[in-house]
Amino acid sequence: MEFTTIKGFKDILPQEVGNWQMLESTARSIFESFGYHEIKTPLLERTELFSRGIGLDTDIVSKEMYTFEDSKGRGMTLRPEATASVVRAYIQQRLYIQNPIQKLFCIGPMFRHERPQKGRFRQFHQINAEFFGDSGPKSDADMIVMAMYLFESIGLDDLSLNINSLGCPQCRPGFREELKGFLSQKTDLLCADCRRRSETNPLRVFDCKVEGCRQVVRDAPSILESLCNNCKDHFEALQGYLERSGIPFVLNHRLVRGLDYYNKTTFEIQTERLGAQNAVAGGGRYDGLLKLLGGPDHPATGFAVGMERVIALLEEKGTLEPKRPDLFIAALGKTAEELSFDWAASLRKAGLWVEMDYGSKGLKSQMKKAGRLGARKVLIAGEDELASGKGVLRDMETKEQVDVEIEDIVNRLKKFL
Ligand code: HAM
Repeated sequence: MEFTTIKGFKDILPQEVGNWQMLESTARSIFESFGYHEIKTPLLERTELFSRGIGLDTDIVSKEMYTFEDSKGRGMTLRPEATASVVRAYIQQRLYIQNPIQKLFCIGPMFRHERPQKGRFRQFHQINAEFFGDSGPKSDADMIVMAMYLFESIGLDDLSLNINSLGCPQCRPGFREELKGFLSQKTDLLCADCRRRSETNPLRVFDCKVEGCRQVVRDAPSILESLCNNCKDHFEALQGYLERSGIPFVLNHRLVRGLDYYNKTTFEIQTERLGAQNAVAGGGRYDGLLKLLGGPDHPATGFAVGMERVIALLEEKGTLEPKRPDLFIAALGKTAEELSFDWAASLRKAGLWVEMDYGSKGLKSQMKKAGRLGARKVLIAGEDELASGKGVLRDMETKEQVDVEIEDIVNRLKKFL
């Protein structure tokens, strides 16, 4: 039997990993400059955390979770998203005791049993940021500015920001009824799921990918017309902050997002270059979730970046130049082989990438190996060089060679590398 990856899961190979590392390190440094701290939560949680947090009627909970029972019959789920887990940690570890304002980020894999296609996987990775403890539009704006700054910093500047407001428990019920009324006139045109949802959770119909349902919602009433004054003010202030930051945005009243916990602000950052899976990041405000999950009644807002989609856009622009060894030591003869082992160790401690041959190959074969690895320079040290007290340092690009004294060679080499 030949083992292969599971459908929808993939290996990230060494030649691809450069972009991943660049994305992660850029996010870490930008997020830290906005005052975010990294948190790592388990990949496995109790199923109820997600079913209650994300909502029973969502596609994620109703169809896509990797759920199983452990040996004691308890429902366990591989996390389909990070927000519920980070909220659980904030509550369980009482992170709010010292300071209710907590800005947290995490990076890692999520699992959803969706139909794999371009930009959609069953194991995918997110960079996820959550801002707890502030209810105003400034924290929403701050977070969106941070997300846009991340994309700008990695060279993705043709993305579009869509924003919407989903209202609050005061104004949304009125809109729900209006939408229910609208959908009840169109039941014949809706898919079976949406016929049910139009009764139980009509806003979810906006999220349906079935073409007939998409056509129906094109004429649906806009939630932005139903916002209460508080939500309207919040949404206008958010737009003001985005304008101040020079960030263009599109108002999209159909943007409900696939999770039930949102209120007020929702947003998505989209690309035209990935086909149907056009969202590279999405998020919004979820003021009710902490209380719903048994925590204090603290407001929160957050977003997640889909790393595979960002990497796909980066790869379209060309891969990063792979890193190359700074030095290859071509040692010939037992004494030089032993000395080269020590030299390599010392140079590596100085942060240089040093390669050497692990057998006892001839010069020609070692030079070939250095070339294959793309080494910038090669130090040739054989019996003759040791006897004369000087090794030969060859620049692999210019082919220039210089002598380097063996005495104190490590420090001498550092000057050339
Ligand atoms: P989400 O929209 O479900 O939101 O996912 C965020 C991003 O993850 C998407 O925009 C997309 O780029 C990526 N993504 C989602 N599913 C897949 C998939 N199957 N394959 C590849 N990429 C995918 C959330 O997860 C919320 N927890 C975001 C959030 C944080 N809201 C508040 N805080």
